[in-house]
Amino acid sequence: MQFLTKKANPVKSRSHCIIVGAYDDGSLSPSAALIDEASNGYLKKVIKRGDIEGKIGQSVVLHDVAGINAQRVMLVGLGNAETADGPKFIKLTEAVIAQLKRLPAKNALCCLLEVTAGNQDLGWKTRRLVEQFIGGTYRFVEMRGTPPEDKLVLDTVELQLGDKDSQKDVTRGIKEGAAVALGVTAAKDLGNMPSNICTPTYLAQQSQKLAKDYTSVTTQVLDEKQMEKLGMGSLLSVGHGSAEPSKLIVIQHKGGKAKEAPHVLVGKGITFDTGGISLKPAGTMYEMIYDMCGAASVFGAMKAVAEMKLPMNVIGVIAAAENMPSDRASRPGDIVKSMSGQTIEILNTDAEGRLVLCDALTYVEKFKPATVIDVATLTGACVVALGKHASAMYANDDALAADIDAAGIDSHDRVWRMPLWEDYQQQLASSSADMANIGGPAAGSITAACFLARFTKKYRWAHLDVAGTAFNGGMSTKAATGRPVTLLTQYLMDRAAG
Ligand code: BES
Ligand code: MN
Ligand code: ZN
Repeated sequence: MQFLTKKANPVKSRSHCIIVGAYDDGSLSPSAALIDEASNGYLKKVIKRGDIEGKIGQSVVLHDVAGINAQRVMLVGLGNAETADGPKFIKLTEAVIAQLKRLPAKNALCCLLEVTAGNQDLGWKTRRLVEQFIGGTYRFVEMRGTPPEDKLVLDTVELQLGDKDSQKDVTRGIKEGAAVALGVTAAKDLGNMPSNICTPTYLAQQSQKLAKDYTSVTTQVLDEKQMEKLGMGSLLSVGHGSAEPSKLIVIQHKGGKAKEAPHVLVGKGITFDTGGISLKPAGTMYEMIYDMCGAASVFGAMKAVAEMKLPMNVIGVIAAAENMPSDRASRPGDIVKSMSGQTIEILNTDAEGRLVLCDALTYVEKFKPATVIDVATLTGACVVALGKHASAMYANDDALAADIDAAGIDSHDRVWRMPLWEDYQQQLASSSADMANIGGPAAGSITAACFLARFTKKYRWAHLDVAGTAFNGGMSTKAATGRPVTLLTQYLMDRAAG
């Protein structure tokens, strides 16, 4: 999809669809008012009749409106101008895209940058519009033998400028929004790819391709032998039952000065999670193709960062393995030694995410990172606690937690902070090793985070449990969401801006 800036007269525009808005008090956005005037008060008449009240989420498509040249006018509810804010702006763009997808319009003139989004500026509105247009029209078609019938026809979106001065902000917003959307799309593609194709080796290949596509990026892939030398007994134990070799993938974006401390992202890349010998029930096991969504979001964020050429150093690390039962798989009760030297009793082989992450988290110490954020579909308990609206956030540093929280609000890819109190640590006690890999039925997302905290004492660290946010479930509705790429990218952009 192509985005252009335009300073058009909406009355004269020959666009296939002009998108304008109406507030819930019946007043019109500036472009809507121009169309209303040219059409002899037609838009106001439609509102009076009650076809649209101006509530957010509402929209009507009007065809062949008299007095204008465009084929269609989409009138969208803008809600109340006084209570307008970022999240509401995002919600109304969702309604626009849902409607647009049903139209045979190849191009659209979007006049929504002129509406208020509270204290969010023009650049923000542009970025979010572009992200929403690209994200909202995403489809995973790579695995289909026959192309889908309801193909998207929209290919060009013109963004109507309020005045000449706005050109720079909007152009920049388009660039940034498109870069973030590219990262989100990459994360969705990886997430949606089934596990017979998306193996640890596939993740490594895709990461190596990233280094080919961007000069700022270099990729290094550690194989099992190299990990063994580093003492990653915990990570390696997870993939031991699988025919697919485990990989530790290191993607570096060098956009800052050589000596500048990097921000590090670490992703859980379990390409399929059967549970291992502690086998999961069959019912929704197919959803475990998404157990590499944390890794996919790290990959997507790295792609967005490279695309934007962010002037900073960022390193993405992916801990990739497949969790299978076999005669080589870990048994409940096995004890492994992590790279940190701490030993772990594997009481449940289904708590494998923390086992791969802990070694990756020890590995990244060598980068002397400014901050480390790990992302993982780590626990079902997280879904119980927060559902699909917020990712759980844990942090050993309040300022870092505040930065991530702010990026989440700004990007509307939100987190909710959870406690990492010492009190929970005793749940990880083991009869024979330094710790167990499970903490019992209570506070499952918290004890998983407490486990990771034992490996992250040397740097500022946050953990995001995205089990509820990274994908939607359901046999025919399942899909990766691309979260939290937008959050991670926003966090990094904020740091680059200083
Ligand atoms: N990948 C799962 C967590 C998960 C569950 C993600 C549902 C998305 C949706 C993880 O590896 C797992 O199995 N966790 C166990 C931990 C338990 C054994 C302590 C869980 O949540 O049941
Ligand atoms: Mn598991
Ligand atoms: Zn898992």
